[in-house]
Amino acid sequence: MHVKLQDKPLSGIDAELTITFLTKDALEGHAHSETLRRAGFKGDQDQLCTLHEHGLLVCGIEKYGSDYLRSAAATVAKALHAFEYKSAKTMQYFLKNAEPMIEGFMLGSYRFDTYRSEPKKSSFETLYLSSENFDDETIAIADLENAVNAATIIATATNFTRDLVNTTPQDMTPQGLGIVAKDLAYTNTLECVILDEHALEEERMNAMLSVGRASVHKPRLIHLTYKPAQPKAVVSLVGKGVTYDSGGLSLKPATSMVTMKMDKAGACAVLGMIKAVSELKLPIEVHGFIGAVENMVDGNAYKPDDVLTARNGKTIEVRNTDAEGRLVLADVLCYAQDMVKADHLFDFATLTGASMVALGPFTTGMMGNSNHLKHKFQKGSARSGELIGSLPFNDHLRKFIKSEVADISNIGSRPYGGAITAGLFLDNFITEPMKNKWLHFDIAGPAYTETPWDCNPHGGTGAGVRMGVRYIQSLSE
Ligand code: BES
Ligand code: ZN
Ligand code: ZN
Repeated sequence: MHVKLQDKPLSGIDAELTITFLTKDALEGHAHSETLRRAGFKGDQDQLCTLHEHGLLVCGIEKYGSDYLRSAAATVAKALHAFEYKSAKTMQYFLKNAEPMIEGFMLGSYRFDTYRSEPKKSSFETLYLSSENFDDETIAIADLENAVNAATIIATATNFTRDLVNTTPQDMTPQGLGIVAKDLAYTNTLECVILDEHALEEERMNAMLSVGRASVHKPRLIHLTYKPAQPKAVVSLVGKGVTYDSGGLSLKPATSMVTMKMDKAGACAVLGMIKAVSELKLPIEVHGFIGAVENMVDGNAYKPDDVLTARNGKTIEVRNTDAEGRLVLADVLCYAQDMVKADHLFDFATLTGASMVALGPFTTGMMGNSNHLKHKFQKGSARSGELIGSLPFNDHLRKFIKSEVADISNIGSRPYGGAITAGLFLDNFITEPMKNKWLHFDIAGPAYTETPWDCNPHGGTGAGVRMGVRYIQSLSE
């Protein structure tokens, strides 16, 4: 779907369908309120009603606020695929900010057809966005142009991340992620360095290498850099890129293994963020570090009882090979800190099922040592519309990952607080100067969905991209 801004009143735009968002209150005063009511339209959030004879599509909305508008626009976009219209038009609503609506349209119209022999048909092409405002206030066209541009970049990057997450494990191997990174570097003029398994050995990344050892697809470490002139800050982003998580010898049960192509979602989110930040030309230097590995089973697989030495020299007792993400991140976090002196270090990972137990499947679990930074991130990323819940560290839980044989164990000794003990595990690989500059985001819940919600269809959601980009954008304001 293309969204095209038109500096004209709504009535001056030629399109087959007009889209209107109505609250229960606004329904009262609408020219077709009687017909809409007779058709069963009540104005509930995301309720749709089409009056084809009037060329009108209405969508209910709880309030004229960003998150409601984003969700309603996504619902409309999905419906537009089912019709035979080519074009539609709508206007500005309440906010002097078109971004949530555009994000909703672009995220809601997303489809993943790569593996269908025949792509689903859709005739819809263009959505025209009038500069006219529903509340009659005028909006400067230059502001609107900027908003359309930013929202389009961010939504496109989110859909790019979704495509990568949805790509099957036979097609998206660690090497495959490397090729995607190289292509992105080429199109967006980024620097790109990729370490293969031999280079990883030289770099003493034994934890990461052990996880990948049983796979025929050898691990890769990807380092992408976006370097604007005179950056205001430097941000390092680290992503878990487990292209398939079978659980290893601590094999997952059959039903839990399905969807584990999503275990690369942190890496894919980092690629999406660096794509968006470079296209928005933000004055922030951004480094993306990706640990790309496949967690498989074989005669030479790493085992429960093995002790691994991470890049920083710390020894790790492996008690469960399915807690592999933290082993990969341990080495990649160390590498990222050795390579770049950053103002912020954020990692994104589908790390634990426990984060879903704690927060539900829609919310990202945010962890770190600095409450100040957690608040700052939540504030800076608020307009992304992504849900974030803070999971607090404490020293009692820290004792759960003590080991009798090594410096630290890769799982907790008791079945509680699993998302936090994973976060505390990672804290062992954060250097003193970075302790308060680091945040860990567990996106295991929101990264992938088999039941559509908000602006997310089935599959990869692109979780992390919008919040990360909005936060980085806030650093430049
Ligand atoms: N990739 C999984 C976490 C996960 C689970 C992501 C469900 C998305 C949906 C991770 O590697 C894993 O298997 N974690 C284990 C940790 C346990 C062995 C301590 C888990 O959460 O069960
Ligand atoms: Zn696992
Ligand atoms: Zn995993």
